[in-house]
Amino acid sequence: MPDSRLPDLMGTLHDAASLDDLYEALIPMDMTPGWIDRKKPLLWFEPHTAFKPAHWRYDECRQALDAAGRLIDTNLAERRNLVLANPAEGNDFATTKTLVNAYQMILPGETARSHRHAPHALRVIIESEGAYSVVNGEKHPMETGDIVLTPGWCWHSHGHDGDKPAYWLDGLDVPLTHMLEPMFFEEHPNEYEEITRVTPDSPYRFTWETIQRRVEAADADPEGCFGRRVRLEADEMPTIGIFVERLEAGQTTRRYRHSANVVFSPMMGSGTSVIGGTEINWSRGDTFVGPTWNWIEHRAEEDTILFTMTDEFLMRFSNYYRMEKAD
Ligand SMILES: [Fe+2]
Repeated sequence: MPDSRLPDLMGTLHDAASLDDLYEALIPMDMTPGWIDRKKPLLWFEPHTAFKPAHWRYDECRQALDAAGRLIDTNLAERRNLVLANPAEGNDFATTKTLVNAYQMILPGETARSHRHAPHALRVIIESEGAYSVVNGEKHPMETGDIVLTPGWCWHSHGHDGDKPAYWLDGLDVPLTHMLEPMFFEEHPNEYEEITRVTPDSPYRFTWETIQRRVEAADADPEGCFGRRVRLEADEMPTIGIFVERLEAGQTTRRYRHSANVVFSPMMGSGTSVIGGTEINWSRGDTFVGPTWNWIEHRAEEDTILFTMTDEFLMRFSNYYRMEKAD
């Protein structure tokens, strides 16, 4: 059946008397001229971001988690975590544009039921004796200094066999999943997975001993932007690059900026970083972020091992990645 509106619409478009009339006529067609000025233009000369260099102190977050442990039990908050929401305007949970971090605490005897989701996840264990994560049926110990991976769509649950609260830093790519919209989430039909074995070793667990050994054996960065640095293998979660970096007491890194977002968390040591002109004095367990294209430099006061997670490899895959180094 012919569309009776068509002659009128065609006429209105063809005979639009002014640009304003044309813009008006385009609205019901769900079109917008590419040439008009916009609050946010389509192109700009170099990266800028609403996300800010930001810092969360572990000692403060730990206090808040202890209060949460007193005030809310795991019936109400099965995963007792505090999300590090960047103070970017309009942001309500993301830590950087593509990544989100949270501090999480589990009390002795508590468990979190198994679930799985599209976003990839990792945990940097800050204080723990006896906590564990069951990933695809295998029990992974989570001891102080370990890094444990949960690639997307792996079943995972948590538990705690020890006798003191355990604390860790979660890192996920949920903001990226929200942007691209491939979110899936499922709760385990049996609530908990059957544990098939306790892993003596696993590609999903990097022990503190392994991390220290590997970083001590790493080569210095010839450009001086990083300390001795190792990339931890996480092929199943290509959106999150993971590095550990060794900075000697007194070492200063060369200033650089790049088109990637980075989250830092010192696993050992203390120091100061200047990110986008903001000075951040950090200690073990803290979290701080370098949003895209902010100048970054670190000064270690003590011997330091710095954990970093980044969307750099996502940017490289997309051929978007650029880096500049200060002279
Ligand atoms: Fe999860």
